[in-house]
Amino acid sequence: MQAPDILAENQIAMEQKAPMLRDGALNGLVVVITGGGTGLGRSMAEQCLRLGARVAITSRKQESLDKATTEMATLGEVMSVACDVREADQVDAMRDAVLARWGRIDALVNNAAGNFISPTERLSPKAFRTIIDIVLIGTVNCSLSFGKHWIAKGEKDKCMLNVVTTYAWTGSGYVVPSACAKAGVLALTRSLAAEWGRLGIRTNAVAPGPFPTKGAWSRLLPGELVEKFDMRKKVPLGRLGEHHELADLVTYLLSPYSAYVNGEVVTIDGGEWLKGAGQFNLLEQIEPGMWDAIELLVRGTKGS
Ligand code: HXC
Ligand code: NAP
Repeated sequence: MQAPDILAENQIAMEQKAPMLRDGALNGLVVVITGGGTGLGRSMAEQCLRLGARVAITSRKQESLDKATTEMATLGEVMSVACDVREADQVDAMRDAVLARWGRIDALVNNAAGNFISPTERLSPKAFRTIIDIVLIGTVNCSLSFGKHWIAKGEKDKCMLNVVTTYAWTGSGYVVPSACAKAGVLALTRSLAAEWGRLGIRTNAVAPGPFPTKGAWSRLLPGELVEKFDMRKKVPLGRLGEHHELADLVTYLLSPYSAYVNGEVVTIDGGEWLKGAGQFNLLEQIEPGMWDAIELLVRGTKGS
């Protein structure tokens, strides 16, 4: 049973690694993380708490939010608000609940997502729209709500961080709604960085490769697919991402240390997408002992 083992290993890795940034690096900041009760969002939330931020997590299911906040309470000040990011009025209410509790918001992480694998011709219009609504419209709703608040108040030194993935620019079959939505989020990231930078709002993105989470693995590699399509084989570094590695990158991008980083998308995938892109990278399948014979063949070719 490979998937549960990988998930357990990552949880241990998260617990054992101290944050990269110094203690208190996020002191005084209030960070809102959508989808912050599970998976990667939760790992980001925990690292923000360890570094001194107050953290609000939000998603649709109050029950899983309650469980997460209870478990995270030992790390710092954490609150949760149930909110479906597809609904603009719910997003405004979520923002106002955080402001009512802490009086300020410094950073928004647009991490919530929905996804599943499917041949595109099997998708109904509603299935396609569901993913676009969660990923792209959800990110738009949160960005508009928080951005308008900061701009109206004239508040500076704010930041938004969007979670995309590498198929935002390569595209990918079998997850086409997600690829379209993430591409839109990437365009939003770069566009707002240019437009809102002068207003004191930085906008960046991270593009993770494969990081095991229950949410992603159950929808992208269900059942035996997890063994049939071992994601580690696609990664030049030969392994999956560890949650603390992404959490360190995210906390850096939320911190004042990255104050001059704006409009950037930082890939953290062990080289996965480049390996898929390079036309001859498949030649790694050639046995090393074959290269002498191949070199002779190539050198023996004269003229056209
Ligand atoms: C085809 C499907 C389907 C499937 C749902 N639908 N699952 N169609 N194949 N496997 C269709 C439904 O039939 C329906 O259309 C429409 O989609 C909406 O389905 P609902 O179940 O009503 O939607 P909802 O309850 O809003 O749930 C959304 C969800 C669900 C996306 C379907 O899986 C979810 O809640 N996901 C949240 C968490 C998640 O997905 N995490 C993974 C993120 S991983 P019809 O027309 O039939 O009514 C990720 C990784 C990126 O993003 C990169 C990795 C490298
Ligand atoms: P996950 O645990 O399933 O996270 C998705 C989160 O989004 C859940 O907490 C879910 O909570 C929330 N959510 C879904 N629909 C929502 C809605 N309408 N409103 C509010 N919240 C909603 O999966 P994950 O792997 O950690 O993914 C986190 C992010 O990383 C996503 O943006 C994903 O695309 C990205 N990513 C993941 C990987 C990977 O390998 N894991 C790779 C690249 C990018 P509720 O169900 O309670 O709403």
